[in-house]
Amino acid sequence: MNIRDLLNDKVQQAMQAAGIPANCSAHLAPSKKAGFGDYQANGAMAAAKATKTNPRELAQKILDELDLDDIAEKTEIAGPGFINIHLSTHWLADQANSVLSDEHLGQDKAEQPQNIVVDYSSPNLAKEMHVGHLRSTIIGDALVRALEFQGHHVIRQNHVGDWGTQFGMLIAELEDQLQDGEVAEFALKDLEGFYQQSKKHFDDDEAFANRARDYVVKLQSGDEHVLKLWAQFKKVSLQHSAEIYQQLNVTLGDEHVRGESSYNDDLPKVLAELQELGLAKEDQGAQVVFLEELADKEGNPSPVIIQKQGGGFLYATSDLAALRYRTSFLQADRILYFIDARQSLHMNQVFTLARKAQFVPQSALLEHHAFGTMMGADGKPFKTRSGGTVKLAELLDEAVERAAALIAEKDPDLTEEEKVEVAQKVGIGAVKYADLSKTRTNDYIFNWESMLSFEGNTAPYLQYAFARIQSIFRKADVSPDTVTGGLTLEQEQEKALGLKLLQFSEVLDQVTREAYPHVLCNYLYDVASLFMKFYEACPILKDDVDSVTRSSRLALSHLTAQTIHRGLDLLGIETMNKM
Ligand code: ARG
Repeated sequence: MNIRDLLNDKVQQAMQAAGIPANCSAHLAPSKKAGFGDYQANGAMAAAKATKTNPRELAQKILDELDLDDIAEKTEIAGPGFINIHLSTHWLADQANSVLSDEHLGQDKAEQPQNIVVDYSSPNLAKEMHVGHLRSTIIGDALVRALEFQGHHVIRQNHVGDWGTQFGMLIAELEDQLQDGEVAEFALKDLEGFYQQSKKHFDDDEAFANRARDYVVKLQSGDEHVLKLWAQFKKVSLQHSAEIYQQLNVTLGDEHVRGESSYNDDLPKVLAELQELGLAKEDQGAQVVFLEELADKEGNPSPVIIQKQGGGFLYATSDLAALRYRTSFLQADRILYFIDARQSLHMNQVFTLARKAQFVPQSALLEHHAFGTMMGADGKPFKTRSGGTVKLAELLDEAVERAAALIAEKDPDLTEEEKVEVAQKVGIGAVKYADLSKTRTNDYIFNWESMLSFEGNTAPYLQYAFARIQSIFRKADVSPDTVTGGLTLEQEQEKALGLKLLQFSEVLDQVTREAYPHVLCNYLYDVASLFMKFYEACPILKDDVDSVTRSSRLALSHLTAQTIHRGLDLLGIETMNKM
């Protein structure tokens, strides 16, 4: 159990022993200011209000009942009734020693593992992945990794856009090019160019446009020839995405693809049920559900189109079908969607309607975790110089190139092979970290210089901190794996670092509860900064350092390195031993 939960339980028990009703919470949190202990219990004030007593007196009563054994060296009441808890250095050192030999760094496996579906990345297969897909892909993947680390059963779902009218045009184009002797992989090498070309044919060539429209109908009715072309297109487009996932160090594989098309057979059923329930109604030839729950200020209900005039189904319809599949077949307890904030109304409609129609069990948690837009230096959505969309593949190549230039200058002593490895990990890590470290819900400005800086809250800074610790071990001629204990926390800087390291699992709880990777980034930055302070104040390898102190400090360094390594790994960012 982590320190926060442990103290929370203890204070809660003391509160009940002091006669405070059980629904009053201990409000336990790490202290924000130095001098106010390591943790604070702030529940006495609210409890005093509820029981109409004096808060300081009540805090004293709680303290009288509070038995922290050897956990705390001091407790005190501050201000109107805060309880400050100063943890015992010995106890902290014991905890740190036990975490040192724990692969999970003190993170207990979830007592009740949940089935958690995470919908992320989900690009449109008609086109190449562009910068607009970056955020969903990497934020979603960070959450997937953190939830798995906590012991949950995570089911990744790549809800790719593999259906819709534009596929008629793409298939017709592919057919033409294959007939000219082209191979699919080659024809679709530049997916973006291919799309433009087929669009041009569609706009300029009447016969082509008619064939494209015919193929949409044939695709829907399961025509073998058209389906085969469609499958070919899909396969090559997915290969493009797979390359990007690999480059990005993202854990999505082919087995996680379940595109919109996989719900085709369910769509008429969704409509029929909504009609039976009296929810879907005809409106100008379309089938529409009007949601009063989401009415605008004037009281107009929010329309959700289930089926267009002419019979086509929509984005919302496949999302409804997907929800049913995820809660019934995949048995999801919780579903997380990582989609742009501009789709908030859409998700809200889908969730509201799914609940109304009882397509999902009441207990299922449905969460849309929206995010802001990646902006250019001009404060407008990130574009190429000529105003086009930036391909993700090109952006990532540039990241690695820039990192390579930086490494050539900063680390001339690395071997060529090491330089390649470091450039890859630093370049990709920098792009990911710059994104993940911003509060998800905000827009942010993409900036090469700041993300690749070795100072401040960046991936290179953390990767460097890790590599630096490895170099200490090389100098000491000690293998980090042999460090298994002997950690004490004598100096103030050692205690501050030790306490921070022990808060890893508390931080992860917040990250997975709120789907906020930036909380983990800020934490890792604090860890690295506290390490630098410790390293300045507490020599490790100097001649006058006795061997007991040296091994304790090596142990603390090792725990720091493990925490940074694991934390970055959960963000999908790699470390290296030399940099
Ligand atoms: N393919 C969609 C797009 O590019 C995103 C899909 C997100 N997931 C979902 N279940 N709707 O906008």
